[in-house]
Amino acid sequence: MANKFYITTPIYYVNASPHIGHSYTNIAADTLARHMRKSLGKDNVWFLTGTDEHGQKIQKAADESGLSPQQFVDKVVTQFKDLWQKLNISNDDFIRTTEKRHIQTVTRALEIAYAKGDIYQAQYEGWYCVPCENFCTETQVQVEDKTCPDCNRPIDKISETNYFFKLSNYQDWLIKHIESNPGFIRPQIRENEVLSFLKLNKLTDLCISRPKERLNWGIPLPFSPEHVTYVWFDALINYISAVGSFDNSGRYVSKWWDKDTQVVHLIGKDILRHHAVYWPIMLHALGIELPKEMVVFAHGWWMMGQDKMSKSRGNVVAPLDMADKYGIDTYRYFLLRDVPFGLDGNFSEESIIKRFNSDLANDLGNLVYRTLTMIEKYFQGQIPGLVALDEQGKNILASIKALPKESGDLLSLNFSFSLSLERIWNSIAMANKYVEETKPWNLAKENKIDELKSFIRLLVEVIRASGDEIDPFMPQTAVSIKEQFGKKEIKKGNPLFPRIDTKSKPNSRLPAGR
Ligand code: ME8
Ligand code: MG
Repeated sequence: MANKFYITTPIYYVNASPHIGHSYTNIAADTLARHMRKSLGKDNVWFLTGTDEHGQKIQKAADESGLSPQQFVDKVVTQFKDLWQKLNISNDDFIRTTEKRHIQTVTRALEIAYAKGDIYQAQYEGWYCVPCENFCTETQVQVEDKTCPDCNRPIDKISETNYFFKLSNYQDWLIKHIESNPGFIRPQIRENEVLSFLKLNKLTDLCISRPKERLNWGIPLPFSPEHVTYVWFDALINYISAVGSFDNSGRYVSKWWDKDTQVVHLIGKDILRHHAVYWPIMLHALGIELPKEMVVFAHGWWMMGQDKMSKSRGNVVAPLDMADKYGIDTYRYFLLRDVPFGLDGNFSEESIIKRFNSDLANDLGNLVYRTLTMIEKYFQGQIPGLVALDEQGKNILASIKALPKESGDLLSLNFSFSLSLERIWNSIAMANKYVEETKPWNLAKENKIDELKSFIRLLVEVIRASGDEIDPFMPQTAVSIKEQFGKKEIKKGNPLFPRIDTKSKPNSRLPAGR
């Protein structure tokens, strides 16, 4: 097992405001980073996010807004930075592709690949989709209406001199690499998809330049000032430009890219090919070894009905609207709990409310509140000691002893955010059942003080253990649990998750201020 952990998110295009889809990847990455900091230590984890600021669609958006590209990206990037702060995203760094450190590393990478003979010049004749920033081959284009095979939007035919990166040289290497590193591409269906694509198709070389007259908002090619770098070749390099650099001999050096580090790229399935085909080949061609435990995990899409939620479809929901309305932790919890990581999910406020009322208000909130109330009522606010447990109590104790490892492994080994939460909620459910079956008010009436003490102390232990495991998912809730149960004497606060009344008029009973 690696002793360092480096996790990244895609760097998002700044042509429009962030939506729920973007926040999903960052919340998942944040949860993993927080979890890994607990197990490996703060200094051994690095969490990177950022923005993709070059390319045709940014230039187009800037033109339409009447700003220069630089002014435009400077404006939109603050929306991403502010959002991550509000959602408690604990990224250690934020990279923008317009930064000097990035431009320098992209330039060096191009020089190195060019010197090696992996980049050559040729005439390009073909189709280009601006929204996807992708070339499409003649066979892929939907000929009748000349639309993109991926997004169905109109595409342009172009003909120009360009530079190409020899992807095709590395096809066999990549197949072998994927086959000998199970778990490099996850989940399994994505690995299958990539492997069958590689086995059925011959890779065409990647066009990595754009003539300046068509696009000047990009990083110039060091060997051809008449061209700028294709936005994807530029963008992928962020993962190494943010954490290291090439030395004079052309060797890439980084604390976060070595054999002791697990590198995890979380992405959506829309950009799987770029990360599972182009990126490993680029690294290999640049002489950068792929860390043994490297993972590219492609999660599913948040859908609005039949469609992917996306800027260009105009069906987006703003993350802050949801977080303001239902609470930041509720929002984080909902996204990671409601849909197994890897699958698509349908977004709706009804499902947030459903999750809120059942898992948060009924299960967790109720356990916390009833336990606090009993401690006040029977023990004047002092948390009692554990004396003796009955069979059911012993089972619960065993369940919370196993909880950190079991819920932790589901996260760090399986990327199963929802199952990890489910495991935590199993312990919470056991505790609630224990209350209902033990009937503590009877213990009190019958003066069974030792039993009552142990019973209540066990509930506290369940809450504390759950709080620790909830922490990476719901950091504010974990703090609030610590405040209430962290000392010998409880500090009862307001109910954590007051039920949302769906029958009275909308919004009248939403939790305030979370
Ligand atoms: O592709 N559901 O940026 P982008 C889930 N700049 N996740 C979604 C989503 C949805 N409906 N919509 C977007 C780019 N995402 C490139 C990346 S990386 C070197 C360059 C998330 O702004 C998901 O992570 O189009 C997806 O992969 C990413 O946003 C695409 O963001
Ligand atoms: Mg996109």
